[in-house]
Amino acid sequence: MFQSYEQIFSKRADAYQKAMELYPAARQREFQLVVEHADLNAADVICDAPSGGGYLRDYLPTDIKRYLAVETAPDFTGHCPLGEHDRIIHSPLDNIAIENSSVDVCINLAGSHHLEDKSRFFREAMRILKPGGRLVIADAEKGTRVDRFLNEFVDQHNSMGHEGIFLDDSTAAEISSCGLAVHSDELIDFPWAFETGNDIGTFCKLLFGIDLAEADAVLAGTEDILGYMPGPGKINLAWSLRYIVAIKS
Ligand SMILES: C[S@@+](CC[C@H](N)C(=O)[O-])C[C@H]1O[C@@H](n2cnc3c(N)ncnc32)[C@H](O)[C@@H]1O
Repeated sequence: MFQSYEQIFSKRADAYQKAMELYPAARQREFQLVVEHADLNAADVICDAPSGGGYLRDYLPTDIKRYLAVETAPDFTGHCPLGEHDRIIHSPLDNIAIENSSVDVCINLAGSHHLEDKSRFFREAMRILKPGGRLVIADAEKGTRVDRFLNEFVDQHNSMGHEGIFLDDSTAAEISSCGLAVHSDELIDFPWAFETGNDIGTFCKLLFGIDLAEADAVLAGTEDILGYMPGPGKINLAWSLRYIVAIKS
């Protein structure tokens, strides 16, 4: 039976964290693409919502003013790498404990597919962003191989299920209707980088909380559905996300 994502992630946080610690370079390009789209400046206040374990922090310039890690599941944030002025905020994404017009960049990486009504988050981003501030959304696109992998393979092999509501051609219009001007919207293919096939199976098993299949079966599932592409690892899984940048005028 499918549970709410808040319930699921309070159980999945430890395994997700372990995947990210064991294979810190696997999602490197994914995080770099977020930073490139965010067009950061040294004095920026950055809100990462949802942050998970704050993995994005290591990819930000060292001189940014402040990193705010917003997360619903407290189990995630125990190992969050924080600078002197950074802060963890435990709150839902539609009611973030951050003042109006105080954030330069709001980032949502792989978090919007858990939101049944994404416009509640888009309006909250609109509220906390300063005029001229940027919202960067990056998530799986409906109908892609990543959608199939998550909503079919992971759904079948995670006893808590996976029913992501992925980005599609209506997302940009939904963001615009919340008052933000969409600046760019593109589906980007990039590699998840590994040393061995066994690493792929282990990483995906942990990251996606797959408890009904062993690592070799998970590897076979990724081979069937996702396939490989060139990249910095010895073996690189073909992943893709839609990256949308919107600006508050
Ligand atoms: C796939 S992880 C992404 C975390 C991090 N941004 C990353 O890229 O690794 C999904 C995140 O969404 C959070 N989440 C799940 N359901 C949520 C909900 N209904 N509202 C807000 N956040 C939620 C989880 O706690 C988790 O941090």
